[in-house]
Amino acid sequence: MKKMLKTLAIATAGLLVLAGVASATEGQKDAKAISYSFEGPFGTFDKGQLQRGYKVYKEVCASCHSMRLVSFRNLSEHGGPGFSVEQVKALAATFTVNDGPGNDGEMFDRPGLPSDRFPSPFANGQAAAAANGGAVPPDLSLITKFRPGWYGTFNQLLNGIGGPQYVYSVLTGYEEPTAEIKAEMPEGKHYNPYFANGHFISMAPPLVDGQVTFDDGAPNTVDAMARDVSAFLAWTAEPKMEERKSLGFMVLIYLAVLALLLYFVKKKIWADQH
Ligand code: HEC
Repeated sequence: MKKMLKTLAIATAGLLVLAGVASATEGQKDAKAISYSFEGPFGTFDKGQLQRGYKVYKEVCASCHSMRLVSFRNLSEHGGPGFSVEQVKALAATFTVNDGPGNDGEMFDRPGLPSDRFPSPFANGQAAAAANGGAVPPDLSLITKFRPGWYGTFNQLLNGIGGPQYVYSVLTGYEEPTAEIKAEMPEGKHYNPYFANGHFISMAPPLVDGQVTFDDGAPNTVDAMARDVSAFLAWTAEPKMEERKSLGFMVLIYLAVLALLLYFVKKKIWADQH
């Protein structure tokens, strides 16, 4: 027993050290510890929030960031924002997709179809960098898995790696640099102490209060829009989360019943040996 406890303690310490290393970009501020509906073992996505988050992505972020691992049709699948098939057809068509080559050997643009993926607005990486002061806007499909946000040991263990918190913190974390910091800041960059890749980010603050109008009349402050779009990006990174959780729960119930049955079978088989 003592040995087991010791092993457990070492394993836990190891985990904490690893998590600490992952988050230790010099001087980066911890992510803001906001909470979401989808955290914890029974948490689910809030469909209204995912729909609002989609709208923020579409109207603001999509002019720079692609989501190459997400298809439009995913938006009507179980466990997602719950758009209807008709709605998805209509919203896919608002994107322009480069396709081809056609019969004349040339590539051509056409409206998006539900089977298409969220395209990049730029023809290639060079065009993207040229339009953004030398930095390429990263694909956002998996950003909430790629960038963990450190927001406290217990949060980290219980609520997940903090990817959505990281995105929220970057979007709401622009600060006025002190004179000292300003002197170091390269031309065309912005000061954001939450950004994982140094404090200077090439993305100008993308959100301003009231920018997107939501159909459900929900608040559209920078804070509210940042929550909604970060929740949406948590879904794009793990569209099957709800299925995974309910399957996991069923498996636990199954194992509990199985353990009980095995216990009684054992008792019965060994009954006359006692
Ligand atoms: C005008 C173009 C533009 C818009 C609009 C824009 N971004 Fe960005 N974004 C960029 C660029 C460029 C970078 C890379 C910054 C760098 O590397 O310095 C970036 C970086 C990011 C990062 C940090 C990625 C990392 O490496 O940690 C996140 C998160 C992000 N954007 C999310 C968003 C979201 C969400 C929206 C919509 C609300 C948005 N962006 C709108 C251009 C844009």
